[in-house]
Amino acid sequence: MPTAWEPLHFVRGAAEADEPMGSKEKWWVDLPMFGERQWLLKLARLDELDGTVSGEDWAEWTVHQFAEQLGVPSATVRPALLEGRRAIVSRSVLRDRLEYLDHGNSVLSARFADYDQSVQGENQGYTLAAVRDALEEVGPPADTEWPGGFTAFDVWAGYLLMDAWVAGRDRHHENWAVILRGDERRLAPSFDHGNALGFQERDERRVRMLDDELHLMRWVERGTSHHFAGKPKLTELAWSALGLASPTARRFWVERLDAISQDAVHSVVSQVPRAIMSEVTHTFVVRLLATNRRRLLDGYSGT
Ligand SMILES: Nc1ncnc2c1ncn2[C@@H]1O[C@H](COP(=O)(O)OP(=O)(O)O)[C@@H](O)[C@H]1O
Ligand SMILES: [Mg+2]
Repeated sequence: MPTAWEPLHFVRGAAEADEPMGSKEKWWVDLPMFGERQWLLKLARLDELDGTVSGEDWAEWTVHQFAEQLGVPSATVRPALLEGRRAIVSRSVLRDRLEYLDHGNSVLSARFADYDQSVQGENQGYTLAAVRDALEEVGPPADTEWPGGFTAFDVWAGYLLMDAWVAGRDRHHENWAVILRGDERRLAPSFDHGNALGFQERDERRVRMLDDELHLMRWVERGTSHHFAGKPKLTELAWSALGLASPTARRFWVERLDAISQDAVHSVVSQVPRAIMSEVTHTFVVRLLATNRRRLLDGYSGT
């Protein structure tokens, strides 16, 4: 049974005014009925021109479900409404007060003294090899059984494969992190997946892409990273990351992607109410995921 779309309702007072890094309106909130961890309440952005709500909420929620299907650890996400405004809550990836997040930019700077943390957009120092080196002493995420010898980078390569599958372009150096716990350092589960699955497109465009395969292919081929050196295509980035990972990790992630069924994808998407995700968007997202999965599997030449 897929997880149901069941929004949690919030009122303003419940949300604290301490806003972490990032770009959207968001607050940490307590949800004692789900345990001690805090949750980050994030509002879906409004389009300033016409007041439409972007699909960041359904994108973040569905990508969390797809991450689970793929075996990528990711922050648990629930749909939410803040006084009627569409939002999500993302459960803290920190298990208790002994844990701290060390974001990618800080991890890279600790490894490379000349790493430039201030660059917005393409960053010449932000390369797969640099991330691999910076993660050398870091373990894979906690609470998951990984194949023997799996490193943090072996798992991180899976994050990039997931990004390419879901057309997520936002894997900048503050959108992944290491969790510090005493002397222990482990890769954090993946978080911040709202910028994916064509969440910002309009239905007229989605209809054109559904009607015209070439149009869809042009759109997916334009899916590049904004942040890595050279602004590579998401597919190429994923393949290169797998190429730098261990042979076990390469096989593991390719097999996991291969095992995804269209039915499973469909059953996740179909949970999102039509008032939030139109029929056209449902169809588009299912098609997009099938297309990207095929592009990734057919184009992959590694072993
Ligand atoms: N589930 C989470 N657990 C712990 N920290 C989180 C979680 N989600 C987000 N954060 C923190 O909040 C910051 C901003 O949240 P993010 O989801 O990246 O939103 P934005 O889209 O505004 O960048 C992240 O860089 C991270 O530091
Ligand atoms: Mg972010």
